[in-house]
Amino acid sequence: MHDHNPKTLPDGFRKLDPPTRRERLRVALGIEAAADEFTSTGSDDALVELSSLMVESSIGYAPVPLGVAHGFLIDGVGFDIPMATEEPSVIAAASYAARIIAKGGGFTSRATEPVMVTQLFLEGVSDEGLEQLADESLRVGAAIQPFLGSLPARGGGFRGMSVERLPQTAIAKVSISIDVRDAMGANILNTAAEGVCPLIEEISGGKRLMCILSNAATDRRGAARCSIPFSVLGGAAGSNGDGAGTARRIELATRVADEDPSRGITHNKGVMNGISALALATFNDCRSIEAAAHLWAARDGRYRSLTSWRVEGEALVGEIELPLSFGAVGGAAAFHPASRLALDMLGHPGAPTLARIAASLGLAQNFAALLSLVTGGIQKGHMRYHAPRIAYMAGARGAEIAAVAQAMTAEKNFSMHEARTLLASYREGRLPARN
Ligand code: MEV
Repeated sequence: MHDHNPKTLPDGFRKLDPPTRRERLRVALGIEAAADEFTSTGSDDALVELSSLMVESSIGYAPVPLGVAHGFLIDGVGFDIPMATEEPSVIAAASYAARIIAKGGGFTSRATEPVMVTQLFLEGVSDEGLEQLADESLRVGAAIQPFLGSLPARGGGFRGMSVERLPQTAIAKVSISIDVRDAMGANILNTAAEGVCPLIEEISGGKRLMCILSNAATDRRGAARCSIPFSVLGGAAGSNGDGAGTARRIELATRVADEDPSRGITHNKGVMNGISALALATFNDCRSIEAAAHLWAARDGRYRSLTSWRVEGEALVGEIELPLSFGAVGGAAAFHPASRLALDMLGHPGAPTLARIAASLGLAQNFAALLSLVTGGIQKGHMRYHAPRIAYMAGARGAEIAAVAQAMTAEKNFSMHEARTLLASYREGRLPARN
């Protein structure tokens, strides 16, 4: 990894208030002041103008919370990862997992070249036409060049073509591989497919049904690995010193996800809690990344776990590999100040580095979920975040929120009625103040 910024946020970041956090972000990471303004208010005229440049009939923003998962060590370099998510415990869980994994040496990661596939589907292609097309891939490769813009000059471009007939519809499918470098690539891929289509029709004698990229991204993958010694795992919350026992249970939980698709999908949803939050923070196409992940999980005809956790000697070893079509330039990622802020925080990574970070984050998120599922259970952590929201909905504001939430947690009663009763008590001075 050469294209990152190794500076990270100071410890204790999460204990600061949001304006102080933003100030620390700017000082610690050298984030531009403009980006700070854009993420802090959401009501600025300039922001509304940007929104209308991005979507039709814009009326503003749906402000999904943006936070930072702190303390990732990936290939020896520290990262603080921006995450946009509406789910309360996700960022805390990622940070907690990152800290434990860092104690075991952190993540090692890798990524493939950023090769994507664009597809043409043609009607009325004879067997001879199909063969002819298969023989002419170099001609297609040359003809596609003008539609690739500056990609070849940047080291990307045409990487090959394959043809096949779909058995049920008899449609001819032409798949063209293109290295899209640091872009997500959707525009380049769609432009290239449409641009080269007349030649493909001419060679094959067929007629275009449609041209569009494939979101499968099976050739564009990120991978991460970590090894957590039992001695470290034993110190994790809920492990009670029994690192070996926790490791065995996490391994077993992963085998269950692999065996039973109805559990596997929840296990993988947890992985995507991390990856999609990074995708959203960097204005990448979450739907594309999610769709590709689930197709990959079912690539051998059965839906399986995206991660593997197994005991090796005196450690728990986790691995993940999946398609990750993250773009770091072009598209919305480069357009909006909020996504530029997120990329800034990561030290302006190229797309392969972003895929490595995403893979590490997905593995961390999955580890955090499994750790709590096989030890104390998930609800304890969830309720910690749920209680303040109930307190807020009951009318608590400012210092009242923490006081009411902590009283609810102590009483293990999270009903709205209880929140209102406790709020009334607090206002009458019958409940201690908290922070
Ligand atoms: C919740 O958003 C994610 C989990 O359900 C993941 C899992 O079950 O592995 C906790």
